[in-house]
Amino acid sequence: MRTLRDIPALREALGEHRRRDQRIGLVPTMGNLHAGHLALVETARRHAEVVVATVFVNPLQFGAGEDLEAYPRTLADDQAKLEAAGCDLLFTPTEATLYPRGLVNQTRVCVPAVSEGLCGGSRPGHFDGVSTVVSILFNLVQPDVACFGEKDYQQLAVIRKLVADLHFPIEIVGVPIVRAEDGLALSSRNGYLDQAERATAPELHHTLAAMREALEAGEPIEATLDSGRQRLQEVGFDPDYLELRATDLEPATATTHEAVLLAAARLGKTRLIDNLTLTLPQ
Ligand code: PAF
Repeated sequence: MRTLRDIPALREALGEHRRRDQRIGLVPTMGNLHAGHLALVETARRHAEVVVATVFVNPLQFGAGEDLEAYPRTLADDQAKLEAAGCDLLFTPTEATLYPRGLVNQTRVCVPAVSEGLCGGSRPGHFDGVSTVVSILFNLVQPDVACFGEKDYQQLAVIRKLVADLHFPIEIVGVPIVRAEDGLALSSRNGYLDQAERATAPELHHTLAAMREALEAGEPIEATLDSGRQRLQEVGFDPDYLELRATDLEPATATTHEAVLLAAARLGKTRLIDNLTLTLPQ
């Protein structure tokens, strides 16, 4: 695996593969890689002949007071994991490389509607930051396919709309959530949890799973959401949101069949997100 730090080196390396007519798969990440990221690389491998991963902690998607400085940076470890997973090229740009005119003057990409509410409601500007950096990476790498995790359900919906609206000729592949044995969705932010919090954290998934069972059995939606919020609070979470939406993130209505439960909740200083899809009885 070659690690490339600047744009000319990336373009040169990609040019060689394009001349050989090879399909290129992209896996954008912020590093501190875990099995969830490696599942993205494995998926990209199945869809493309060349896999390009990126590691860049994108300042544009962090709000004031969020964990930009604390976000774990573990490049040597990430390189070893990517190499073992069969990644071909790793692009690790600096902030000055991606945003040479500074963050304030940076042209931004905004994907309306789907970026609003849920994580977009509690993290204003977050999805503009994601959409901007992903657009830049799409332009630089020009992949045939790009893989994103379904844990960030809203992010995946934002990126699908971004690709459709800006006519990027890129296939977007969503990759199922990878969970620890106790059900906790893998996340780089799990490393912030202390021992007691780590023991409580799977309750987020267990609560969603219990709610899914109730909703699929025909229990009323509002009462199920209320008891889910209450359960999260009882075990020590500070829920940010807990919502039921149609799978396209439109509000769930009486005719919604395929739906998704989405939650974000704080445990101490750590903000965790999770989701579960379900089928509502008609
Ligand atoms: O999901 C992430 O890790 C980030 O939001 C992404 C897509 C790499 C953009 O910085």
